[in-house]
Amino acid sequence: MLRVDQAGEYGATRIYAGQLAVLRRNCPEAKLVARMAAQEQRHLARFDALMAERRVRPTVLQPLWNVAGFALGAATALMSEQAALACTDAVETEIDKHYAQQLRDIGDDDPELASDIEAFQVEELEHRDTARAAGAQEAIGYPLLTAAIRAGCRVAIGISKRI
Ligand SMILES: [Fe+2]
Ligand SMILES: [Fe+2]
Repeated sequence: MLRVDQAGEYGATRIYAGQLAVLRRNCPEAKLVARMAAQEQRHLARFDALMAERRVRPTVLQPLWNVAGFALGAATALMSEQAALACTDAVETEIDKHYAQQLRDIGDDDPELASDIEAFQVEELEHRDTARAAGAQEAIGYPLLTAAIRAGCRVAIGISKRI
């Protein structure tokens, strides 16, 4: 669980880094993204610490998520500000489902991890809602774009669980 969660939060920081590299500085979307990126950094730092504490090795796919995350962020931001927000909308929708499933799986077995996941899940949902409120759904091709990104997230989660 820690391996896939750390990979996901790492990927999120890379997506937002890609978007920030492309978005005009100080445009409203860039400000939103910068705030969310800071929270992802905090999520990542917490999972990094838990992994070190519990001696879990990171996914071997880290270099792939580095590049793929950045590329996804940059590509969506190049399409439009709304597409960048739609990317957040899609990613956070899958992360929310992923964390919800983990919390069901953990049950009462690991209160420490569960409380972190619960706290992060709230922030991921807030990211999704922020993106929608700022116009994610106005992105051209929103249904197809978000469906594709969500499918990509599910694949990334699936393989990061294993390797
Ligand atoms: Fe996060
Ligand atoms: Fe997030």
